[in-house]
Amino acid sequence: MTAATPAQYFDAIYSDDDPFGYRERWYEARKRSLLLASLPAARFADAWEIGCSNGELTAALAPRCDRLLATDLSARAVALATSRTQGLAHVRARQARHPDDWPDGRFDLIVFSEVGYYLDAATLSRMAARLRASLRDGGVLVACHWLAPFREAPLSGRDVHRLLRRRLALPRLFAYADGDLRLEGWGGGGRSVAQRAGLR
Ligand SMILES: C[S@@+](CC[C@H](N)C(=O)[O-])C[C@H]1O[C@@H](n2cnc3c(N)ncnc32)[C@H](O)[C@@H]1O
Repeated sequence: MTAATPAQYFDAIYSDDDPFGYRERWYEARKRSLLLASLPAARFADAWEIGCSNGELTAALAPRCDRLLATDLSARAVALATSRTQGLAHVRARQARHPDDWPDGRFDLIVFSEVGYYLDAATLSRMAARLRASLRDGGVLVACHWLAPFREAPLSGRDVHRLLRRRLALPRLFAYADGDLRLEGWGGGGRSVAQRAGLR
């Protein structure tokens, strides 16, 4: 597959409320914990989660953010994320297909987890340029992707991280990889966590 994954694929999988097993699988709970632990600040003023699915990661990010925007191309995913974050007035879930639809404003945290490989290389390149422009000075982009290629995805997780690294042209803050996933963060004004916390 070389073109972006069609929207109909996501419409179809959301006949199930938890098609990726985010609520059930220990693998997914561990991955969320790794991502949350990697964030280089305790709190972020304005955060954006791209491809929020049923809102499981959104709900985990919410306590770390003053305002959190969660977007997904699937209307059903957005409805599930809205329900999962009900009562959290600082969280907004919106339907949007990126990079054609794009939110206003700039963010000090953008979370791009398990979504890059659904785009083709040209679209992901365009997306990376827009992501860079939507980061505040010192803002952080965190990406996390499964490494094994799969049929529905035009790109592999390695392709996504390679392309982001090249196109974002931001200092890398951290990287974690194991046999299954890659987790990386860029930006942060090039300052380490200790430097950001005033420890050195
Ligand atoms: C595998 S889920 C990721 C969920 C969550 N970010 C996580 O890591 O736990 C990917 C989601 O990205 C959405 N998606 C795929 N392409 C998209 C695009 N171009 N714009 C917005 N959402 C997209 C899909 O509908 C799907 O819900």
